[in-house]
Amino acid sequence: MRIETEKLSYAYGESKALMNLALKDVTLTVEEGEFFGIIGQTGSGKTTFVQHLNGLIKLKKNSGSIKIGEFDLGEKKCDFKKLRARLGMVFQYPEYQLFAETVFEDVAFGVKNFMPETSPEQVEVMVKDALETVGLNYLKVKDKSPFELSGGQKRRVAIAGVIVTKPEVLVLDEPVAGLDPQGKREFIALLHKLHKSFVKTIILVSHDMDLVAENCTRAAVFSHGQIVAVGTPKEIFSNAESLEQTGLDLPLTAYLTNMLKQAGITAENDYTVDGLIKAIVSEINCGGER
Ligand SMILES: Nc1ncnc2c1ncn2[C@@H]1O[C@H](COP(=O)(O)OP(=O)(O)O)[C@@H](O)[C@H]1O
Ligand SMILES: [Mg+2]
Repeated sequence: MRIETEKLSYAYGESKALMNLALKDVTLTVEEGEFFGIIGQTGSGKTTFVQHLNGLIKLKKNSGSIKIGEFDLGEKKCDFKKLRARLGMVFQYPEYQLFAETVFEDVAFGVKNFMPETSPEQVEVMVKDALETVGLNYLKVKDKSPFELSGGQKRRVAIAGVIVTKPEVLVLDEPVAGLDPQGKREFIALLHKLHKSFVKTIILVSHDMDLVAENCTRAAVFSHGQIVAVGTPKEIFSNAESLEQTGLDLPLTAYLTNMLKQAGITAENDYTVDGLIKAIVSEINCGGER
């Protein structure tokens, strides 16, 4: 499913004052297959934007359009249940939203809610599949209370509850916030694993520039409710000045690229660690011939 918003605007409450708009004329297309980053300072509108994508925030009249595959979110007849089965949304700190008595019931909720016609046998298959996909042992965790689990396990259960319907688009709002470096690495590996299987498109909200530089095909920079830049990580991070104007940091790889340049090594890299290492290795190899 391709995701397209056109001139999307939004104000919390009734205020029409331009100053109070959380989103202003946001036009963005994310193609099927992308691993798309959404970056920007706190309060820049990232969460407001992604919450529109599954209709959690309803499109207001004369406030633009949102089309996701065959779903037109501005239409009265838009089937939001069907949309939510196909576009999964992982909120910030999703573990806080676990509520059921058992892990099984929590994960099954997503199916029962969005695909009510599913048989109990099929629900069981889907829950097992989802828990195993996120790296949990089905038999060991299914009857536990979600509250008995560790922080990292809780987050996995929460993700399982979203991917249980096998959504083809997965939207995640600050998914690695609060995870330690190891937890973060494992989580990113899980996202790539999902992206290789049924999840075709990932939209990742993050203020971690390293994460975006390493993983995203493209990203959009939000500032004061508007998109101020869209492009590949290379396009975005090579324009350091305008990025800093929006109050964002650069990824570590951008600083390293500059340091290498000062040392006479040009890294035509894509702002990934891999790209930098290749540039250094090739410099070492050429250096030997000089
Ligand atoms: N529930 C809310 N009620 C009123 N204003 C809100 C609400 N949520 C967010 N805002 C405001 O909307 C703007 C965008 O916020 P948000 O989308 O949460 O940004 P981000 O996710 O980039 O931090 C901010 O000015 C914020 O204060
Ligand atoms: Mg936010």
